[in-house]
Amino acid sequence: MVRLLLVGGKGGVGKTTISGATAVWAAQNGFKTLLISSDPAHSISDSFEQKIGDKPTSIQGINNLDGLEIDLKREMKEIEPLLKQALNEPFEKLGVTGFDFYSGDLMFPGLDEALAFNKLITYVENPEYDFVIFDTAPTGHTLRFLSLPELLDSWLLKLLKFRSTIQKIASLFSGKKDTTIEELEKLSRRVKHTRRLLADSQITSFMFVCIPEAMAVLETKRALHILQDYRITAHSLVVNNIYPEECDCKMCSSRRKIQKKYLNRLNEEFPSLTIAKVPLFEEEVKGIPMLEKISQLLYGLKQENAQLPLDLSSAVTFDETGEKHIIRISLPAADKADLQLRGEKNNLKLVINGIDYQIPLPFTLREENIEAEFQPNYLVINISKK
Ligand SMILES: Nc1ncnc2c1ncn2[C@@H]1O[C@H](COP(=O)(O)OP(=O)(O)OP(=O)(O)O)[C@@H](O)[C@H]1O
Ligand SMILES: [Mg+2]
Repeated sequence: MVRLLLVGGKGGVGKTTISGATAVWAAQNGFKTLLISSDPAHSISDSFEQKIGDKPTSIQGINNLDGLEIDLKREMKEIEPLLKQALNEPFEKLGVTGFDFYSGDLMFPGLDEALAFNKLITYVENPEYDFVIFDTAPTGHTLRFLSLPELLDSWLLKLLKFRSTIQKIASLFSGKKDTTIEELEKLSRRVKHTRRLLADSQITSFMFVCIPEAMAVLETKRALHILQDYRITAHSLVVNNIYPEECDCKMCSSRRKIQKKYLNRLNEEFPSLTIAKVPLFEEEVKGIPMLEKISQLLYGLKQENAQLPLDLSSAVTFDETGEKHIIRISLPAADKADLQLRGEKNNLKLVINGIDYQIPLPFTLREENIEAEFQPNYLVINISKK
């Protein structure tokens, strides 16, 4: 992934609609895009009017676009056994059996969300996507979500300390690989990677969505302060549901007046944000043609008349000379120690923090011909043609 966009704002202001429109624009301009939501209401499915699952699902009607609705409860179940084992195993080795020292949410408040974050990391690290958009739940919830890498990191650190202390005291695992520690370390590295990605303003940005009313000013101000604490940069504010100029009935004229007052205030209060406006539509805002229409209002047709800049690039690029193929993979904020590379005929297998990703190649390779060089934020792979 090259860019991560977090979309936040109060309930019902149009986050899913604006996230969807942004995803449509990016995909239609040739960038492999993943739109993620953790909303149990399956909002992406509703917005695109098609079923999207809890695995990346290709969105029909738009090339290059996958959707994913994370199921928080299920993600928690996936990783819970590792935490359980990390706590209980040392006691079992000491002969203390029949107890469960793991007490889930009591021990780690907010555990379910933290573990869902684990899933998000997998997709954010995935070199297959150029652009990942995370359509978040309403503001308060989103901002709590941002504290999860820190929380998860501190729990993992405690668990790791606990495991290694027990290990030293009892010398129980001498000579044997402690696979639980390995797993915890892998997870901890992935969480750290995500923290680095979130804090890097070249990669991650935050987009607010609001409607022009008194609450929007307060809410945006509050959220900006909190984002600063997490070192996350907000670039843009989309003001949605603006009464169109065309209608001069009493109600629309009066509403427009009120909205103008708050729009002016938003402009004054947030000079560092690029502010885009989306009108209130009379038709239902659902389905690809409507999302396409909003995408063009925001980002323009081929970026002409764009209200918002969207600076995207491809995560994987292929080049060749007479002697070699050159593949450049964008791996922002990755650590060399987190990576492993293998070649398999028409595939490069990249292992990032213990998770496999496949990069299909337009040619067949022999492993002995591969030479990789890690540069900050990039892996450059030279494959000799001989
Ligand atoms: N500009 C608009 N004009 C008319 N209707 C709109 C507009 N933007 C969004 N809507 C409609 O408003 C409703 C709420 O929008 P949306 O689901 O995008 O909000 P949300 O912020 O994601 O909500 P939630 O907080 O529940 O996730 C939807 O029915 C959507 O179709
Ligand atoms: Mg939504």
